[in-house]
Amino acid sequence: MCGIIGYSGHRPAVPLIIEGLHRLEYRGYDSSGVCFVQNKELKVVRAEGKLKLLEDKLARMEVSLATTGMGHTRWATHGAPTEDNAHPHRSSRGDLAIVHNGIIENYQECKAELLAKGFEFSSQTDTEVLANLIADEHSSETSLLKAFASALERARGAYAVALLSRQEPDTVYAARQSAPLLLGLGSGENFIASDIPAFLPYTRDVVFLEDGEIARITPTSWEVFSLADLKPMEKKISRIEWDLQAAQKGGYKHFMLKEIFEQPMTISDCAAGRVSMSRFEAHLPELEAIAKPSRLRIVACGTSYHAGIWAQILFENWARIPTTVEIASEFRYRNALLSPGETLLVVSQSGETADTLAALRIAKERGSPILGICNVIGSSISREADAIIFTQAGPEISVASTKAMTAQMTVLMLMAMHWSKNGGSLNRDEARLILNGLSDLPAKLSGILPTLKSEAATLAARFASSKGMFFLGRGQSYPLALEGALKVKELSYIHAEGYASGEMKHGPIALIDQDFPSFVLLPNDDLFAKTRSNMEEVAARKGPVIALTNPPKSGLDIKGCETWLMPEAFGPLNSFLMLPALQLFSYEAAAYLGKDVDQPRNLAKSVTVE
Ligand code: M6R
Repeated sequence: MCGIIGYSGHRPAVPLIIEGLHRLEYRGYDSSGVCFVQNKELKVVRAEGKLKLLEDKLARMEVSLATTGMGHTRWATHGAPTEDNAHPHRSSRGDLAIVHNGIIENYQECKAELLAKGFEFSSQTDTEVLANLIADEHSSETSLLKAFASALERARGAYAVALLSRQEPDTVYAARQSAPLLLGLGSGENFIASDIPAFLPYTRDVVFLEDGEIARITPTSWEVFSLADLKPMEKKISRIEWDLQAAQKGGYKHFMLKEIFEQPMTISDCAAGRVSMSRFEAHLPELEAIAKPSRLRIVACGTSYHAGIWAQILFENWARIPTTVEIASEFRYRNALLSPGETLLVVSQSGETADTLAALRIAKERGSPILGICNVIGSSISREADAIIFTQAGPEISVASTKAMTAQMTVLMLMAMHWSKNGGSLNRDEARLILNGLSDLPAKLSGILPTLKSEAATLAARFASSKGMFFLGRGQSYPLALEGALKVKELSYIHAEGYASGEMKHGPIALIDQDFPSFVLLPNDDLFAKTRSNMEEVAARKGPVIALTNPPKSGLDIKGCETWLMPEAFGPLNSFLMLPALQLFSYEAAAYLGKDVDQPRNLAKSVTVE
């Protein structure tokens, strides 16, 4: 979603801001802009489209004297992705401008009030309304800090916002409510940003802002105040240990490919310190202080939701915990009943997904214990959950989530094993097979990834022009089928459906013909024969079938079916080999069709609006 960087220091601000915006590009955007004070004038430069177009405009200007400024990449919510709607937005009175992530829900009411007072608007955005609200407050309030706070009190919604004024050319103000924002603390320079990579080459010392806080940075100072009464807040400085290398492509053509190939390491990093190979047990220190839940409600969005469905079977079968899984945007508005002792488990790579965060807050208000699984340290979900388990997958930059799902599945599987010790049904032999299999998995996966990639490329060249495709599976392969289809849709813009294979005959099978391929997830498990029958039903209607399956297996000589072979793994571990195959197919299909793999159209990495 939109990206913010603000800088106050001793270096030329504009190139530094542009560089920071490039490091935020992965969040997804459709226009960009910067703002700075130079020769006592507030300048705003904006462009529709990619950052290159903004850079071209700036190259024709003299911008080197400004040492304070801010920049923004916008992912359109209110108003089309045009230059007029791009940020920063200036107030029509007074020389101030803001950049903003999120949505001001009452912007229409505020706009009506401001129009009546003579303010003017040149965009369709809610952000311009907020800029004018600040200017309105500033007309009766001498301190910009107070005016900013009063304007934010009038605005309702979610925001991360940064403010620059001609009158205070060395100062950037910032505030957050339900959208990520943090400070970077340097020497003779300070930063604000919506994500750490924006300023990581310059500092590793960060302060995470909380909802209801306002910050002020100058080259030599930083302060955080409570929005309600402007009292100074004590804040902890955190040190970031990972480096920018981890957030760069490292020789791969795309971040997505790099992240797919990182998955062997993801599995071992994620399991590190969480298994005992002598006792054949999983032990998550984060769960030590928490009683085994009597019921579990998993809430998440997108890929994280698929990881949740995948884990449901393990929580029920191994740990014997009744478990339901819900899409966060549905859960939050349906006044869901939570039984006493039911634990809400929120799963999120970013830890900032607006719907997932809202679900967490609703359940918290109702007194449910909240557990979180999250990849981003310092994110809202990681701070608001009662207990948090980090997936330790490192930064995921590509909009399409890959290694995050593998990491979530690893953590979820280990949680189910952890709770299986107390009244569960996983026996020692099975636990041994799983943990031995898990420790072999990174090498096994590393060994097959190059072959999977070239096989995926061949399949992509054959099927990327299909009018649509199915991904079919049962049991734990069902969420993988959903994920395979999601990946194809988001990256290649081909219509793809993930379906429970047994459900096909209740309607969707009508779509099948020779131009409509089906990828069938067919591990050699208890459901093999059932899924195989569904494959036959598809093949009988002349639909091409590609079965992702383990050798050796008889009974796959079905006319019209071909196999895509994966090595065999024990039980749920098969999913860790099949998932990368699906990811690689979607990657290759998008590359074959010439799509923007890392930043698919209309999508954002972190969905901080509902
Ligand atoms: O950061 P989260 O895991 O909460 O994000 C949830 C979804 O937006 C996300 O998984 C999305 O579906 C993926 N980027 C798709 O690849």
